[in-house]
Formats: sequence, structure tokens, C-alpha cells
Amino acid sequence: MPARTRLLALDDAPALADLVREDREFQAPWEPARDQQWYTEVGQRADVRAALDRHAAGLAFPCVVLDDAGAVASRVTLNNVVRGAFRSCSLGYWVASASNGRGLATGAVAEMLRRAFGDLGLHRVEAGTLLHNTASQKVLERNGFTRYGLAPRYLRIAGRWQDHVLFQVLDPGAP
Ligand SMILES: CC(C)(COP(=O)(O)OP(=O)(O)OC[C@H]1O[C@@H](n2cnc3c(N)ncnc32)[C@H](O)[C@@H]1OP(=O)(O)O)[C@@H](O)C(=O)NCCC(=O)NCCS
Repeated sequence: MPARTRLLALDDAPALADLVREDREFQAPWEPARDQQWYTEVGQRADVRAALDRHAAGLAFPCVVLDDAGAVASRVTLNNVVRGAFRSCSLGYWVASASNGRGLATGAVAEMLRRAFGDLGLHRVEAGTLLHNTASQKVLERNGFTRYGLAPRYLRIAGRWQDHVLFQVLDPGAP
């Protein structure tokens, strides 16, 4: 199967702005509260630029996910890359509602894990979901993540601090 994910590019900003605008209501319960600029090409370009700066500094690997027609349908990011004895990062993603339920997130996460444990040389990837985000939990568990804890008031999602289930997966090839 061809690669579904590729490094984010500044030219993705218009497509991303269209997606977040169309999915504003769909994403609202699962995402941090956003200002008006987020839903514009200017806002998305600023976010892409910041993500590419983190990538250039070795702190992140931000990607888009392509649908069967090759159009941008999603974002997936390895964030907060820490080296030293930890060699860990955190994973975040969303998929446009029009492309949900086709295995896009599951496949994209699988590719990101190959990247994390391959070229990036990491040992651990973590992720957190809201307690009732069953779809996202399924995506993680299908990719070998295990639940290791519950963090109270962990992330500010939809305007309030919310509890999260914490997941991790370790490099299967590591001794
Ligand atoms: C969660 C999300 C990334 C899933 O993307 P996706 O491409 O639809 O995921 P997949 O198709 O790979 O797998 C999702 C699975 O969850 C299932 N699912 C969807 N909604 C569900 C629900 N409410 N309860 C139980 N299972 C559900 C799907 O049927 C699918 O399983 P299946 O393949 O066995 O049918 C997407 O819905 C999304 O972006 N949601 C909003 C943002 C978000 O939650 N991001 C993650 C934050 S941790």
C-alpha cells in the first residue's frame, strides 16, 4: 500500500483551512477551543509554519494524511520529541468527518509508528484520549498501544480541563 502520510507543507494551508472550517462543529468536542483565525488560510499557514519550525528543530514530525484520491484529509503529528534516556514523543491526529470510518487514522498511525521507531530512533510513543473517545481508543489499540493510566484534568479541550486516558506503545524491536 502506498504511503498515506507525508511531511506537512506550507501549500497544504488552503486545504487544511477548508477542512477545519467544514468540520468546525464535528471537531469542537475533541479539540482545544480555537480563535477565529484558526479557520482561515492565514491561521492554518501560521500553524503549519510553526509545526515545520518544530520539525526543523528535531522536536516534531508533522504530517498530512492523504485519501484514496490523493487529497489532504487529515493531520497526524509526532510531537514533543524528547531524546536522552527517554526517547519518547506524543502522538496527535484528526481525520475530516467526510473521510471517517475508512481506516485512515488507523493506517496513518501505523505509518507514524514505523517512522518513530525507524528513522527517528525513538523508544516510546504516547497518546491521550478523552474518556469517551471510543473511536480514537480503537485506533490506538489496533496499533498496539496499551492503556497505562488516567490523568485527571490533563488537557484543556473544548474550553475546559478534561480527564484523559493515557496510552503508550514501545519499540517492538528494542532489546
Ligand atoms: C478519532 C478519529 C481520528 C478516527 O478517524 P477514522 O479515520 O475514522 O478512524 P478509523 O476508521 O481508522 O477507525 C475508527 C474506528 O472507530 C469506530 N468508531 C467510530 N465512532 C465510534 C464510536 N462512537 N464508538 C465506537 N467505535 C467508533 C469506527 O467504526 C472504526 O472502527 P472499525 O474500523 O472497526 O469500523 C476521527 O473520528 C476524528 O478525527 N475525530 C475528532 C478528533 C479526534 O478525536 N482526534 C483524536 C484525539 S485523541
